[in-house]
Amino acid sequence: MHKDIAEILVTEQEIQDICTSMGKEIAADYKDKNLIIVGLLKGCVPFLADLTRKIDLKFDIAYMSVSSYHGGIASSGDVKIKMDLDISIKGRDVLIVEDIVDTANTIVTIMELFKHRGASSVKIATLLDKPEGRIKPYEPEYVGRVIPKAFVVGYGLDYDEMYRNLPYVGILKPEVYNTK
Ligand code: PRP
Repeated sequence: MHKDIAEILVTEQEIQDICTSMGKEIAADYKDKNLIIVGLLKGCVPFLADLTRKIDLKFDIAYMSVSSYHGGIASSGDVKIKMDLDISIKGRDVLIVEDIVDTANTIVTIMELFKHRGASSVKIATLLDKPEGRIKPYEPEYVGRVIPKAFVVGYGLDYDEMYRNLPYVGILKPEVYNTK
């Protein structure tokens, strides 16, 4: 285990099991739909790569880069679009793939935008859900694991752009961000 990690919350094996079962569920639900999967960069990358390989359907993948944390451990509430989609979502069934839903500021903002742009439906598949962190009410449709209110990193999630490459999700030792 990495020296800055206090505890592993979701192991590599658990992540793979989540991808397998969620992928099957999504494939069944979107069998007759016009699916486009949208990854919100950067945190979504490992989860999107593993999850999409378990969805046995024909679909498009597109990316958007949004940020609300700006390097710290608390959401600024100000969701910035740093790179927009390169494809129209009008009339499409959009499934947003996220690493985590915390305050829900990001997802609620993006969902409203996608509905405004004419998407037929907008749902979310997230690896992690932290309901105790909510500022805006929102319940994601596909959730890998509900986690407690702790600052987690790994498998796409960062602190100051570090730890995204850890193969598991773990709680960051508080002394790492308290000493900065
Ligand atoms: C993280 C994460 C989600 C968002 C969730 O992104 O990937 O997009 O925060 O938090 P919220 O529910 O409180 O809005 P971040 O802004 O850190 O950008 P990143 O994906 O590039 O790390």
